[in-house]
Amino acid sequence: MSHGTITLVGPDIARQAEFLAMADEFGEDVPEGLVPSTSRWVVQDGRLVGFVALRHELNAFLFEEGGYIGYAVRPTARGRGIATAAAALALLEARHLAIERVLLTCDDANVASATVIERNGGVLEDVRGGKRRYWVEPAGQGPRSTRRALPAPGIHQQVCLLVVRG
Ligand SMILES: CC(C)(COP(=O)(O)OP(=O)(O)OC[C@H]1O[C@@H](n2cnc3c(N)ncnc32)[C@H](O)[C@@H]1OP(=O)(O)O)[C@@H](O)C(=O)NCCC(=O)NCCS
Repeated sequence: MSHGTITLVGPDIARQAEFLAMADEFGEDVPEGLVPSTSRWVVQDGRLVGFVALRHELNAFLFEEGGYIGYAVRPTARGRGIATAAAALALLEARHLAIERVLLTCDDANVASATVIERNGGVLEDVRGGKRRYWVEPAGQGPRSTRRALPAPGIHQQVCLLVVRG
């Protein structure tokens, strides 16, 4: 069979639209044990400062430990409210996916992440295996901080799609 030249390339933002079209073709039919997840980059004033992953559903592992939303902010950009704002944006996206109660987790010792979750209206349910498990209720029904958690100015997100192992 004859075909064109095939090469392997690294991830390239210039191919983002093409990547999304390909991801659409794959759909959300993921293998057993995996869940679909949308991964976004957090960009502030043109600078890539972190990433956020929003899992569309929970499997057993995510229910116990991982939760719906994961995030990280690059060390040189921490302590400026970026994770708090990015988590608020991810929570809005969770609403669009009709996820009503959103589970967020962090290591018991991760004070910064616990602060991020509590600022977004997270209510601690329990600590399992060293993980704090918080729930954020539907907008308007949670504590006051849920309704006040607004994106910080200058932060927007860009899209790619990945699947996390559960
Ligand atoms: C957790 C993390 C995402 C926080 O990002 P961030 O953008 O710095 O978070 P924010 O600025 O929105 O808020 C963090 C809050 O915790 C505070 N904080 C940060 N580090 C802290 C620490 N070591 N001890 C106590 N408080 C801390 C910050 O001061 C801030 O509160 P403040 O606004 O009152 O000062 C970032 O530290 C990170 O990427 N860590 C590694 C990955 C990780 O742990 N991800 C979360 C997995 S659940």
